[in-house]
Amino acid sequence: PSWVMHCTERTFVAIKPDGVHRGLIGRTIARLEDKGYSLVALKLLKPSRTLAESHYESLRSKPFFGDLVSFITSGPVCAMVWEGKDVIGQVRKLIGNTDPLTCAPGTIRGDFGIDIGRNIIHGSDSISSAEREIQLWFHSEELVDWNPSLHE
Ligand code: TYD
Repeated sequence: PSWVMHCTERTFVAIKPDGVHRGLIGRTIARLEDKGYSLVALKLLKPSRTLAESHYESLRSKPFFGDLVSFITSGPVCAMVWEGKDVIGQVRKLIGNTDPLTCAPGTIRGDFGIDIGRNIIHGSDSISSAEREIQLWFHSEELVDWNPSLHE
């Protein structure tokens, strides 16, 4: 019934420059649509160094941080917000482990990658990082509402 609280979990997903360059935007979107999720925001941008450093700020002390930021800012990124039941955890499953060599076939990284530093796609790993990353990459007006009638 209409009075039941409409549950909308959202996650931030980004196809990294390697994935965009290799023509994997369409196939990645198809997998998330096929699973049943809804795309609520989408844009292509070349991230600034500031944006890339904030996005990965928890990794600032890692030895690969410099290379990671250079790579993410090296070309266009397809930034998206996806919505649906358990979308954060389910998208992480569809993406696979950080290192494509340890990913099961059938996952995005497992099917399309062999290099941890070129692992095609990012997905938020928790509710708090999803909220932080969505705010970092998008203005609230850029997110669409699939079911405005629920709020009338
Ligand atoms: P991380 O947040 O640990 O993984 P994930 O993207 O699966 O959430 O790391 C962020 C990115 O940093 C990762 O996608 C690829 C890069 N990275 C490396 O290049 N080398 C490494 O050893 C690790 C752990 C990550």
